[in-house]
Amino acid sequence: MSDQDLIIHDLHVAPVANPDHEILKGIELTVGNGEVHAIMGPNGSGKTTLAYALMGHPAYIVRSGEVLWKGHDLLKLSADKRARLGMFLAFQYPMAIPGLSVASFLRSAINARRAGLNPDPNVDPTDAYRGGIPMGEFRKLVREKMALLKMDESIAARYVNEGFSGGEKKRLEMLQMAVLEPEMAILDETDSGLDIDALRIVAEGVNAMLNPNMGVLVITHYQRLLNYITPDTVHVLAAGRIITSGGKDLALRLEEEGYAPILAEAGLEGEIGDEAPEAAVPAMEAAH
Ligand SMILES: Nc1ncnc2c1ncn2[C@@H]1O[C@H](COP(=O)(O)OP(=O)(O)O)[C@@H](O)[C@H]1O
Ligand SMILES: [Mg+2]
Repeated sequence: MSDQDLIIHDLHVAPVANPDHEILKGIELTVGNGEVHAIMGPNGSGKTTLAYALMGHPAYIVRSGEVLWKGHDLLKLSADKRARLGMFLAFQYPMAIPGLSVASFLRSAINARRAGLNPDPNVDPTDAYRGGIPMGEFRKLVREKMALLKMDESIAARYVNEGFSGGEKKRLEMLQMAVLEPEMAILDETDSGLDIDALRIVAEGVNAMLNPNMGVLVITHYQRLLNYITPDTVHVLAAGRIITSGGKDLALRLEEEGYAPILAEAGLEGEIGDEAPEAAVPAMEAAH
């Protein structure tokens, strides 16, 4: 165990809107430095809640438990500080930000990350001469990463996620990850909304970014993404807890049998959640 590990201990989380109703009821999980862990679970089991709680989303309250990473009590830090520290979340449903171009957004994000956890007052990352990323270097970096993800460069001038297809939104999430070079990346259903070719391109992009200093938490309902991104460990989240963990074979078993048998083994027969999650995606995206 090192302080580079992400250590989640007995984490209980409720939505601010209903603080007495815990969604997460005691998560135990350690992601070692540079390890890839997958979290699988039925719809509504709390996967996104876990991602949001780790990133510091204001709509969720941590009722108890702790999260340690890089020597910090993560739960005491605001979301932007967690990001500056190297934590990254690729959203399941990325939001549109009309009026903000992809290029400005990425550049501001890179500069904020460069400023670090405790910004030095002598460094002004909006100024290329005082610690900010110079324009030439920024363009080169973004071009290189767009090529990796087979993205059209014209996307840089468009507003963030405004009028983007499902696949474009997911690729933009991966582009952000590529330029920010996180040390802990949480990918919340990055595979949903992608056809099989886009899935392969995105997965290859993620694989190209993998390095010994980047831990990854791949959240997914299906095992198909794990055909491309090989996890060190697979966990099953149900009813707000990790009910079992295993290797890649656990994901294959879920694909073959569905969630019902594994939930039954854990004494959770009634926890199947809503099935046909893929069919629910377009309706939910349309609602945004
Ligand atoms: N902000 C919230 N307010 C109220 N209920 C929520 C909120 N976020 C999630 N929930 C509920 O918590 C449960 C888990 O949701 P979620 O974490 O999105 O699951 P998953 O990502 O595994 O599908 C669901 O029943 C959902 O309706
Ligand atoms: Mg979710």
